[in-house]
Amino acid sequence: MGTAVAGSTFQNLLYQKKGAIAYLTLNRPKVLNALNQAVFAELKAAFEDVRDDAAVRGVILTGSGDKAFAAGADIAEMSTSTGVQAEESTRHAQSVTELIENLGKPVIAAVNGFALGGGCELAMACTIRIAAETAKFGQPEVKLGIMPGAGGTQRLPRLIGKGRALQLILSGEIISAQEAYRIGLVNEVVPNANLISRCEAILNQINSNGPLGVKYSIDAVNKGLDGSVSEGLLIEASLFGICAGSEDKKEGTSAFLAKRAPNFQGR
Ligand code: CAA
Repeated sequence: MGTAVAGSTFQNLLYQKKGAIAYLTLNRPKVLNALNQAVFAELKAAFEDVRDDAAVRGVILTGSGDKAFAAGADIAEMSTSTGVQAEESTRHAQSVTELIENLGKPVIAAVNGFALGGGCELAMACTIRIAAETAKFGQPEVKLGIMPGAGGTQRLPRLIGKGRALQLILSGEIISAQEAYRIGLVNEVVPNANLISRCEAILNQINSNGPLGVKYSIDAVNKGLDGSVSEGLLIEASLFGICAGSEDKKEGTSAFLAKRAPNFQGR
């Protein structure tokens, strides 16, 4: 039985909201949570629901079972697609990664196992990546005669630098969580048992801050990285101006001066 949300019934995704956090779990454990087109359609519906629900302030995205976050695009589905179909489906997958990246709320990838190909690319679209000690990462597409198609050639070099990104993409090598941490692909490595609680602690810390400041910081970093430093600085100044004219700014500065905790409203 699927989970009903926003008029949809999910077959491949578990979706729960608890307080200010939404929990999304890729749920095809028999195929190591491989990402078929149905998964991307369900991710789109769930993330749009999260985006539009003011009560939700952050998301934890993980995989079901203890083996995989996601072992990549569904190779069985991909094996029969034409070039034109593959271009369409990869554009759709990319649009979902852009939705996640620009959600306006932090999304933490809780990487509980294999994050390969499209799985690694999905994790890279998230705001922050926390890895369990047994997680493994890689872009093994070249071993299948293809190349990354859900943002790997763009987000990996931005995260870890061109040389290291090309080495991973061209070799198809699978690396450990510790190595992913060393090269900056993940923010932290934690014991498997603490994975979700550590992600919750990070989100709770972020959620105690002004929602507008959080949303526009994500925008400024993302949009700034698309262009020159000078264009990025202009974006930063404009978004800073919006924050500085907000009620949250009045509340945050007054609370500081009155030595009390702020009560932000996100406006
Ligand atoms: N697609 C479809 N099915 C997959 C899958 C995938 N990406 N990854 C694993 N599975 C299936 C296996 O076929 C297997 O199914 P059966 O039980 O029916 O045989 C089941 O999941 C368990 O997998 P394994 O038996 O292979 O498990 P393992 O522990 O021996 O190996 C693994 C684990 C190293 C992750 C191995 O499964 C593997 O190499 N998977 C493929 C990884 C990959 O190449 N990913 C990139 C896909 S292309 C892509 O992602 C394009 C893009 O950029 C969008």
